Amino acid sequence: MKKILILNGPNLNLLGVREKSIYGDQDFLTYFDTLKSRYDAVELFYFQSNHEGGIIDKLHEIGFSYDGVVLNAGAYTHTSVAIADAIAAINTPVVEVHISNVHKRESFRHHSYLSSVCVGVICGFGLDSYRLGLESFL
Ligand code: DQA
Repeated sequence: MKKILILNGPNLNLLGVREKSIYGDQDFLTYFDTLKSRYDAVELFYFQSNHEGGIIDKLHEIGFSYDGVVLNAGAYTHTSVAIADAIAAINTPVVEVHISNVHKRESFRHHSYLSSVCVGVICGFGLDSYRLGLESFL
């Protein structure tokens, strides 16, 4: 069975509460449960951290044994050379996802430090961006 990690960065623990007009009204754990039951032929894991180092530690921990990471690094996408270096350092392929279409938003969200070290980027499909990212590994 393939092992896939969904890794969420800062403020994504507040999905369903936070800026609902942008991120929707569903909390992530409920969505994750539906994904797990729909994709029961995959070992699906979830981790969230509000800290840059927490995201990096998790990438190091699983990055030589898992088959894929679906990563929404939140605002660290636009700032973190350290997370980009961690993605480049591991063997496990990473797909970058965003709930919102970052290219329709403020210009500081248009640049990603992560895209160039990821397999691909999916953004703008709401929570379905995670499912599409997961599908890319199957
Ligand atoms: C986000 C987009 C980022 O710009 C923002 O900082 C987030 C969420 C998204 O999923 O649309 O926290 O990654």
